[in-house]
Order: sequence, then C-alpha cells, then structure tokens
Amino acid sequence: MKILVVGSGGREHAIGWALAKDERVTKLWFAPGNAGTDSLGENLPLKATDVAGIKSWCEKQRPELVVVGPEAPLCAGLVDELSALGIKAFGPNKSGARLEASKIFTKDLLVKAGIPTAISARFTDLAEARAYCASQPYPLVIKADGLAAGKGVIIASSLAEADEALDQIMAKKVFGTSGDSVLIEEFLQGQEASIHAVTDGTDYVLMPSSQDHKRIRDNDEGPNTGGMGAYAPAPVVTDSLLATVEEQVIRPIISVLKSEGIDYQGVLYAGLMLTPQGPKVLEFNCRFGDPETEVLLPLLQTPLLDLLLATVDRGIGKLNFELKKDSAMTVVLAAEGYPENPMMGAVIHGLVAAPTMLFHAGTTRRDDGKVVVSGGRVLAATGVGHDLYDARRQAYKIAADIRFDGKQYRLDIGKKALDLIESGK
Ligand code: AMP
Ligand code: GLY
Repeated sequence: MKILVVGSGGREHAIGWALAKDERVTKLWFAPGNAGTDSLGENLPLKATDVAGIKSWCEKQRPELVVVGPEAPLCAGLVDELSALGIKAFGPNKSGARLEASKIFTKDLLVKAGIPTAISARFTDLAEARAYCASQPYPLVIKADGLAAGKGVIIASSLAEADEALDQIMAKKVFGTSGDSVLIEEFLQGQEASIHAVTDGTDYVLMPSSQDHKRIRDNDEGPNTGGMGAYAPAPVVTDSLLATVEEQVIRPIISVLKSEGIDYQGVLYAGLMLTPQGPKVLEFNCRFGDPETEVLLPLLQTPLLDLLLATVDRGIGKLNFELKKDSAMTVVLAAEGYPENPMMGAVIHGLVAAPTMLFHAGTTRRDDGKVVVSGGRVLAATGVGHDLYDARRQAYKIAADIRFDGKQYRLDIGKKALDLIESGK
C-alpha cells in the first residue's frame, strides 16, 4: 500500500515509523517530512498547509491512503478535497475540524450535548468583553476563538491582565481574525489529562490516556510551548475515571456531531481538567497530539494501518483493537531560545547510534549530509518499558546521548505520575 503522511513533526515521524513496520506498506511519502522521515520514505517539497499543492500531487500519484497529521490542513479542508478525488484520507473534513478551528463552535456543541465544561461567555465587542471581565472573579481565562498556534489562551490573574489580553486579541489582532470573537471562561483547577478517541463517526476506540507538559521549564514554569514531553498511560486516569469520560464526553460528542449532520472520522482529542467535580473538557483537537502521538503509537498492539483503514472505511465496530500493557514516555529536546526565539542551524550529533524511537521534529538534512536544527522542537526521545520508570530510564538515556548547541529539555517529565505511583505504595 502506498501512503502519504502530511506534516513534518515528531507526530508524523511516529506515524511513519508505525506504518513502515507493516509489511503491507510498500511506499511512504511525507509532505514535507523531516530528517527522520527521509529514512522511512520520500520527503516531498510540499508544505503541510499547501492544500492545492498536495491535492494536485495526489491527483497524479494516487496514494491509496493519506494521513493528515496537523490541524491546519484539516481546518483548510484537505480531506474534503481528497475525498472529492476519491482518495481515502484519515482525518475529519472541514466541518468536523471546526471542533479545533473554533472554540465557540465547540463550546456550543458541548453545552448542547450536556458535556461538562467551564462556564463561559462569548463576545465580539471589546467594550462588552471588558465590562464582563470587570464583573468576574480571578483568575479568569480568555480565549481567542480561532486557531492561534497554541497561544490563544490567556490566564489572567487580574482585571488589568484581562484588559491587556482583550486589547491584544480584539484590538491589536495579534492572532488576526482568530480574535474577532473571544470566549471568556471560569478558571478550572486540577490535573490535566488527554484522551484520544479514534472514531469512524459511529464507533470508536480509545488510545491510552496521556499527559502533556506544556511549559518550557521544570515544575511547570516558564512560557507555554507545543509540548515538552508526554507519557502514557497516565495513572491519574483510573479505569473508573476513563469510564466516566467515555460516558460523559466521548459518546455524547460523537452523537452530537452526528445529529448536527457532521460526518466526523479521525481523532477526537479531548483535553480535560480533572476537577474535584469530575472531568471537564478544556478543548477538543481534531488530530493526534504532538508529542502525545510519540507515546501512544508505540503502545498499539493492533497495527496502526488497521486502525486508520477501519476509520476511513467506517469499520471500527469490527476492528479487533488491542493495546500493549507497557508504558511509554517521550522527552522533547528543544532548540536554544524556544519557544520565543528558537535558534536554527545547530548541527546535531549522536544520531547514528540512536535507536529507532528517537522521533525527529524540527530537523533538516543538509546537502553535506549533516542533520541540523530547523524548528523549535527538535527531537522526541522516546522510551517504552514495562512501567513508567523503565520508560523514563530509556527516554532520558536517549535524550542525554544527543548533542547539539543550546539543547534544552525538561528533567521532570512524568514526575506527577511517578509521585502518584509512589504515594500509593
Ligand atoms: P486550550 O487550548 O483550550 O486547551 O488551553 C490551553 C491551556 O490553557 C490548557 O491546557 C490549560 O492548561 C489552560 N486552560 C484552558 N482553559 C482553562 C480553564 N477554563 N481553566 C484553567 N485552565 C485552562
Ligand atoms: N500537545 C498538545 C497538542 O498537540 O495540542
């Protein structure tokens, strides 16, 4: 089978890695891929956001399956375009991807379906938004409605900070039209966890629970990033909590999407806050998380190809879906200056001896064959073991063996999980 993977991050390298193991996969392309994916298949000079370019390439090459990794091409309607060509593509169409493209759209669906979520108000008028903020307790959460590369959520600790956030989003338009509307939400407290469901629109399977680490520095300090590490499964998500999430979140979102006339296939990634009142939805993403994918795919017993095909062919109900009993952890190695001002170009050493579970993200192979830093998140060092301790040992061994100028990574990935395990001993 010939498959195109759209994207260039650790997520797409992990997807390619899981597919390349499969004897049925005869050819892999990546649009555009990175210095890790080029040893699994062919990197194409096509950006993930180049919907027209990918469409016309697909029209000529006719891949048998396209796996769309990031949200931008999903929100721009790549799957609709490919479906119109009769090409199977994994991921929601444009109307389904609104789950990630519009926080207000999603909040409306959550409320309609009775899914637990933060109480909120929405505004298109700056003065009205300000007046509302003046009447609320703090902290208060201000969200730009549209896509903002993970930066559109501001937790304001005072009215002055809320005013500043509204000014940036609604007046200065730092996120462009994504800030035409804002959602203002009550602040929820608790641990965060992610649940990835894969659905064909009717049936679904659940990937292991996971936790991301969004801040750049240890102890959750410093600015937000795309994610500095992850582990799965997350011990904070007990079997009974998972059952609650299925009943209160996953089944109702699938059924409300259907009743809205949205034919949703692909990933439903629920970002949850585990509050004392139970799990509440912070957000939905319409694709696999990054770096979560790097810990989820190594835990699949069922071949990834079977899961992807069952999804696009609407056959998840008949899929024999199994997970490994193992645990996985991934530690992101980031470039100097990330997230504000990542420095590009440092040569990466230590790759030759690296095991296969070192997923590339912001890497490029130069003409002289050297692999250099070309993005903020550079590599995801991943360990899989019989428990989280074992997975952590392996991930940090790989992380330490890689060398490049300015390398930064967190030393406390998984600490919350290990503390929880220790406290139960
Ligand atoms: P989102 O993109 O909506 O998931 O928001 C990004 C991050 O902001 C989340 O991972 C949380 O850490 C935080 N956040 C979002 N909404 C809330 C909320 N209502 N209360 C507390 N923290 C929140
Ligand atoms: N790791 C967070 C995300 O993929 O949205």
